[in-house]
Amino acid sequence: MRLDVAILGASGFGGGELLRLLSAHPAVGSLRGTSSRFAGRPWHAAHPNLRGVADGVFEAAIDWREFASSPQPVVFSAMPHGALASRLDEMEAEWASLGLANRLTLVDLSGDFRLSSAEAFALAYGAAHPCPRRLGSFVYGLPEWTRAELPGARRIAAAGCFATALQLGLLPLEGLDLGLVTATAITGSSGSGATATETTHHPTRAHDIRAYKVLRHQHLPEVQATLTRGRITADLSFVPQSGPTVRGIFAVLQFGLPHGLNAEGLAARAARACAGQPFLRLVEGSPRVAAVVGSNFADLAVAATDRHGAVLVAIDNLMKGMAGQAVQCLNLALGLAETTGLKYAGAYPA
Ligand SMILES: NC(=O)c1ccc[n+]([C@@H]2O[C@H](COP(=O)([O-])OP(=O)(O)OC[C@H]3O[C@@H](n4cnc5c(N)ncnc54)[C@H](OP(=O)(O)O)[C@@H]3O)[C@@H](O)[C@H]2O)c1
Repeated sequence: MRLDVAILGASGFGGGELLRLLSAHPAVGSLRGTSSRFAGRPWHAAHPNLRGVADGVFEAAIDWREFASSPQPVVFSAMPHGALASRLDEMEAEWASLGLANRLTLVDLSGDFRLSSAEAFALAYGAAHPCPRRLGSFVYGLPEWTRAELPGARRIAAAGCFATALQLGLLPLEGLDLGLVTATAITGSSGSGATATETTHHPTRAHDIRAYKVLRHQHLPEVQATLTRGRITADLSFVPQSGPTVRGIFAVLQFGLPHGLNAEGLAARAARACAGQPFLRLVEGSPRVAAVVGSNFADLAVAATDRHGAVLVAIDNLMKGMAGQAVQCLNLALGLAETTGLKYAGAYPA
């Protein structure tokens, strides 16, 4: 299978990771990416790590006619929130007119199509959805929970970064009646994208830790959908925090142990949840962000006393929380081995 790939928003952090991963992906035959700021300039102008490895030039826009004869066109959207939703109708019409719509695989990295109703979207994101009639037409891209739905999927909404960490943490808790579950997660500054803001600017961030969107983060509804998917009864609260690393998310879920579950039982559940999952690693003690940075792995650990349980998860937000996960979803959608182009260790120390 030869894939012809376009990345919309290729100059950002997610776009850069996609260029890095896909330029080494054995099924990718051609690769191109858009940027308005870098149009006409080489990829390494935005991503210096790609110099001499992935040589391409950013385009202002994709001419879809050039994909018309491709046997397997693929589009990744790594644009800011709202950008895909506001132009998808137009793009779908053009893809349809070129006979591309039914064989093109689109993987969106933004939150635009992760939720299935306009009401849920408005509640989570505080604004009306720009393209509500397409809500519900995307498969939710988090293979550890939705692997069975991905083969053959043509429109995929990859899970959010915090949402990924929290939902991986729910894997050992499938089917349990838990009551209150409190979750926290610390993210590195790359979670906010490549454009510097007051909360990502190095001097104001490097030696600081702060909470934000306390109890109200927009990824909560994604996680709540998985509580239903996993038949987990839980009253979940979540406090996201920004920490001093560049990459990485470290998440903690805490709960009272339900009747009949002890530390050994929780450990056995975690072992079962990680078995057969190519990117989940069960670790002793604490997962470490430094052990997963640059890789698509998620490290997970559990701990319990006679009353309390905890699940700890570390991921790289730009990999398992974003670009790596998007490629993992694409592999599954196209019937490739799930790990194609993805199974390697990150750089340690980070
Ligand atoms: N960072 C993370 O950890 C993370 C994790 C999971 C999901 N996400 C989601 O993934 C998406 C990309 O995130 P990112 O961190 O890569 O962002 P980013 O670094 O800010 O990159 C955004 C990209 O989109 C382009 N862009 C900006 N405004 C645009 C517009 N109005 N229309 C079209 N393109 C536009 C930018 O390039 P030009 O301005 O040059 O066109 C750039 O290539 C976002 O939706 C984000 O929420 C991020």
